[in-house]
Amino acid sequence: MQAKVTAIGTYVPERIVDNQYFESIVETSDEWIVSRTGIHTRRFAAETEFTSHLCTAAALNLAEENNVTLDDVDFIIVATVTPDQIMPSVASQVQDKLGLTHAGAIDISAACAGFGYGVILAQGLIAAGTHRKVLVFGAETLTKFTNYEDRTSCILFGDGAGCVLVEAAEKGNILAAVAGSQGDGGKDLYISGKRKQINGQDIITDNKIHQNGRAVFKWAVNTVSAQMPVLAQRANLEISDINWFIPHSANMRIIEALCNQTGFPIEKTLESISVYGNTSSASIPLALHRGIREGKVKKGDKLMLIGFGGGLVYAGIVLEWPG
Ligand code: UT7
Repeated sequence: MQAKVTAIGTYVPERIVDNQYFESIVETSDEWIVSRTGIHTRRFAAETEFTSHLCTAAALNLAEENNVTLDDVDFIIVATVTPDQIMPSVASQVQDKLGLTHAGAIDISAACAGFGYGVILAQGLIAAGTHRKVLVFGAETLTKFTNYEDRTSCILFGDGAGCVLVEAAEKGNILAAVAGSQGDGGKDLYISGKRKQINGQDIITDNKIHQNGRAVFKWAVNTVSAQMPVLAQRANLEISDINWFIPHSANMRIIEALCNQTGFPIEKTLESISVYGNTSSASIPLALHRGIREGKVKKGDKLMLIGFGGGLVYAGIVLEWPG
């Protein structure tokens, strides 16, 4: 059996936070945030709203919008770096909240590349013949781990969740995949746990997000622009055959730099950064769902999705949208 992505759903928390909010807590301006990141607004989860709640709402949105049942989902993968707790997993909480009594459940940790990793793993489970209907989430409550004294990072992050259904089919629609890791960059983007070092280097152990923005920016542009032709080639496509390029929405300037470097037309990219900020693993499904709702993405379109982030890690897939 092959793996087919058949449906998408998303959810974002209600509270919209604009750039003016940050002018009142750190030395920044709407002008700096818009020009350096492309972000206008982001969503903040309520105090009582956690990643499992966002996932559950995204799954219900998927079921409702696509008129499908989730009752026979047999595996749940949640890509997140901001779980409700370290244990139990978010996936198990989602399994319970959705009443999916026949589903296995795991979380995976691949930061902003998590959604792509999740789809790749779902494809493997289906190809192995052990599972037939997998729900894959990219979901974060980053604002619960944000350092609101660090102006270079606090303005970036937002909360949200997206999910896709990956099902067994005679003919799949995941045309290619890439994945990689560069662990020596781990110190450039982290949330600490108990250990006080990464690669022998001291880190700040406040359990908040810390980022060397310039280093990650440079790595992201070099890495993703190098992987785009690799992905296209694995899918037996030219880059010009790609209808929509959906890189992780970390910064509008990264998307522009990728297009400049590769010659890919910026008007054929989809983003979620402008309205939702950087939502890590949720950013790609949020951008894709926006593109579908706006009528841009059509049945049969070739989509190139590439996530990149803390690890440092990246993962990309080429999808033929089912519609
Ligand atoms: O999602 C996972 C992957 N993450 C990424 O891909 C993030 C990649 N990095 C970035 O998006 C950007 O590096 C940032 C948005 C984080 C920062 O933008 P930047 O253009 O790289 O800024 P910078 O850190 O080089 O700082 C430029 C200047 C500095 O001032 P000086 O030293 O030139 O006087 C900063 O202090 O901008 C200053 N600055 C700010 N000014 C106003 C930094 N943050 C702010 C701020 N408001 N919020």
